Amino acid sequence: MSGTVHVERDGNVAVLVIDNPPVNASSADVRRALLDAIGTVQSDFTIEAAVLIGAGNTFVAGSDIKEFGKPIPEPQLPVIQAAIRDCPTPFIAALHGAALGGGFELALSCDARIATPDVIVGFPEVSLGMIPGAGGTQYLPRLTGIPAAIEMICSCRRIGAKEGKERGLIDAMADGELRATAVAFARGWIGRKRPLGRIDVPPSPADAIDKATAAALRAGRNRPQVSAAIEAVQWAASLPFDDALAKERTVFQALRMSTEAAALRHLFFAERQAPKTSGLDGIAPARIARAGVVGAGTMGAGIAMCFADAGIPVILVDQDEAAVDRGMAAIRSFYERTVKSGRMSESEAASRIARITPAENLEALSSADLVVEAIFEDMGIKKDLLVRLDGLVAPHAILASNTSYLNLDALAAVTGRADKVVGLHFFNPAQTMRLLEVVRAQATSAETLASALDVAKRLRKLAVIARVGEGFIGNRIYAAYRRQCEFMLEEGAFPEDIDAALENFGFAMGPFAVADMSGLDTAWRMRKRLAATRDSHERYCEIPDRICEQGRLGRKTGAGWYSYRSGERKGASDPAVRALIEEASALKGIVRRAFTAEQICRRVVVTMVNEAALLLAEGIAARPSDIDVVLVNGYGFPKHEGGPLFWASHQDRATVLAELENLAAVSGYGFRTGDVAGLLDRLQDQA
Ligand code: NAI
Repeated sequence: MSGTVHVERDGNVAVLVIDNPPVNASSADVRRALLDAIGTVQSDFTIEAAVLIGAGNTFVAGSDIKEFGKPIPEPQLPVIQAAIRDCPTPFIAALHGAALGGGFELALSCDARIATPDVIVGFPEVSLGMIPGAGGTQYLPRLTGIPAAIEMICSCRRIGAKEGKERGLIDAMADGELRATAVAFARGWIGRKRPLGRIDVPPSPADAIDKATAAALRAGRNRPQVSAAIEAVQWAASLPFDDALAKERTVFQALRMSTEAAALRHLFFAERQAPKTSGLDGIAPARIARAGVVGAGTMGAGIAMCFADAGIPVILVDQDEAAVDRGMAAIRSFYERTVKSGRMSESEAASRIARITPAENLEALSSADLVVEAIFEDMGIKKDLLVRLDGLVAPHAILASNTSYLNLDALAAVTGRADKVVGLHFFNPAQTMRLLEVVRAQATSAETLASALDVAKRLRKLAVIARVGEGFIGNRIYAAYRRQCEFMLEEGAFPEDIDAALENFGFAMGPFAVADMSGLDTAWRMRKRLAATRDSHERYCEIPDRICEQGRLGRKTGAGWYSYRSGERKGASDPAVRALIEEASALKGIVRRAFTAEQICRRVVVTMVNEAALLLAEGIAARPSDIDVVLVNGYGFPKHEGGPLFWASHQDRATVLAELENLAAVSGYGFRTGDVAGLLDRLQDQA
């Protein structure tokens, strides 16, 4: 049994308490119990009003997402809503915590809503590949007008009590205890009914609707559920309520069964699972009251802001005054921009900046409980730093590294506290990217790992646990597919072909545009570092080196894979680059051939799948879904495809295996083939 409804009495008011811990999700059991309870209200003439309220700390926070992939068991939500509407007794929804999705639709089908000041309401359906399916698209515009309803439903924004009250979603605020206030409020409704379906949609100017539509489509990247939601909201003004409800339900039912909705549900569960690992039960994380960051460059400044944003005081150290000042200037400039955009008040920005204490010497870190190093990516320099930090921080302090590729075991080994060394691999820009790879080294203790995961949560990051290996999860896969993209250059494609194909597939940016944005020099330096140990038999594409040798280091130098007119973010394809690429093919005697966009995308994604199989076999990634979480949240892989492994689980097995064989053949000596067949079996079992 999952969930029930208790019918309690307060004089002439019935209080229907929905009880389905932890979030009172609207499961089949809850809906059945609700229907019974509504029947009780209707048949008992001494009940003159009813209050719907959630047990514990929330109203119905949403529907049971697991139900959406299968036929939804009866009674479905619209049946409950019709019973509320048809019952002559007024129903008041008493909201606290969250009333989202189906929970909010349930509340909107009542005659009025009263809420606590901390409530959040809204519709997350579009982010799960669907539209609200129990009247959400019809109720909302009757209260807010069409443009605002489009914005709220398509953005999936959570709406607070203040805005909810202003927009009429909430009729009254409960100042005192919710249940008692709601009962008193319900008494004021005795003898009245006000189903929202009977209210007309307030008129809106056509250009306001067009503007809201265009903005929603742009922000929602033209996904089908976004256009479906926009269309459904407009039915509120053009169709009779019942017809619109029926049409909305049909669209909802079709969308929830789509592969895209399944992909988004997969990611929803994958993200919740990623920070979990066995062996941490009952292990209390250490208390991190003060943090330190070493290196005030691109990453260090961003990481310091993460701590400041989470309310954790942080000391930011770099080698000299100029470097610290540069870091602090970047931080101030970021917060200034945030204030200018209206997303933060000036006083809030000031208090966040005040949490960051700049310092020029490491001794300032002696009071930190956790120090994250984000200095140059160089083993020797990092080892020196860790030895020094080990000698000056408190014995309980955790030392974390933001290294992208270096061997964390080797770094930990130079300290006398290898059990307290962990990787915290942030993504650029650290203050805005949610993903965080938490790297567990050989000697990292369970307590240190638990503490790192707890810090990640406090920083509101999406943590994925990885083990030590060159590039951990994300950069390892990135390196593998970037290599294939370079091979495709030699074989016949141009950067713009590859970028366009991948962007069309749904990537935020193609790899060459990304490289130009972040600068080509870091990878160049790494290639030079590895040159001496590279196996000369391996296929090596020299095109990136030729590009760098010409001083084309990306956007910052005005040219990289593309050329940039001053001030422009988008580059233009450059005949000089094309000539250089053609020359490289000719030098290797490769006859260039054309690639279709589909061939490019499949080669890239199959490469990811292969590398994923290797990562799983090596134990660097714990589960296939972790890899999807990393690629989607850190590398711009299209969310609606669910990540490379979700994608693979929906492909023809024989085709993928044949493509892999081909990949191995063209890549030649040194290419490592993972157990992709085994991985596909595993994905099949999990589906
Ligand atoms: P950066 O060059 O922007 O900043 C490094 C900073 O460290 C400089 O300000 C430098 O003065 C300082 N520094 C160097 N040695 C120091 C020492 N001994 N003591 C104190 N400060 C010292 O580099 P970036 O890009 O911020 O990278 C830092 C680390 O983060 C590297 O390990 C890198 O691999 C990693 N990383 C970089 C990402 C990126 O996109 N840039 C993404 C994720 C990780």
